[in-house]
Amino acid sequence: MATISLAVLASGRGSNLQSIIDACERGDVNAEVKVVISDSKDAYALERAKKHGIDAYFVNIKEYQDKKAYEEKIVDLLQNYSVQLVCLAGYMRLVGPTMLNAFPWQIMNIHPSLLPAFTGLHAQKQALDYGVKVSGCTVHFVDKGMDTGPIILQESVPVYDNDTEDSLAERILVKEHVLYPKAIGLFAENRLMVDGKKVVIE
Ligand code: GAR
Repeated sequence: MATISLAVLASGRGSNLQSIIDACERGDVNAEVKVVISDSKDAYALERAKKHGIDAYFVNIKEYQDKKAYEEKIVDLLQNYSVQLVCLAGYMRLVGPTMLNAFPWQIMNIHPSLLPAFTGLHAQKQALDYGVKVSGCTVHFVDKGMDTGPIILQESVPVYDNDTEDSLAERILVKEHVLYPKAIGLFAENRLMVDGKKVVIE
């Protein structure tokens, strides 16, 4: 089966980006990260990409008239690299119609909760505040809502009485680093079928 071309969009430190690059380089996943894009100039994700010889771009939303123009620039870049799957990895913006229409069911996100619980920012703090005993992470396809798209894979972790936001985030992150490459692998093998709200794994 042919290797698929990935893009990763990240706003921050990029530990998920690293796990994806490593899984691709090890050959665990039949994919290659072709380009990394950040909306933040100082994102460490950009450095990680460069260390692996991957082209990395900062796209400054302030330089564009509106979100549509900003996303048109990103779509241009993605198409230049013939990207087949876009992975959001700590990309802290809602994806708009410009990107969604250009990449139908070809954009994935990872979120640090068991969706549909605790969408949006500070998911780990939301879980602690709610008092849940189990949390985890979710990889899903991106739709127009915030963390609402069809769920691909989930993994759970226990929540302990003495957990802090950081300790829970760290426990979840360990699972994220395994789950995201696994979901990408399934996509690369063409095994993910979206059927309404469900993703069927063939
Ligand atoms: C990860 O925990 C990811 O699940 C979360 O941001 C972190 C990014 O870490 N994403 C969201 O909260 C999206 N709503 P990383 O930059 O080290 O991959």
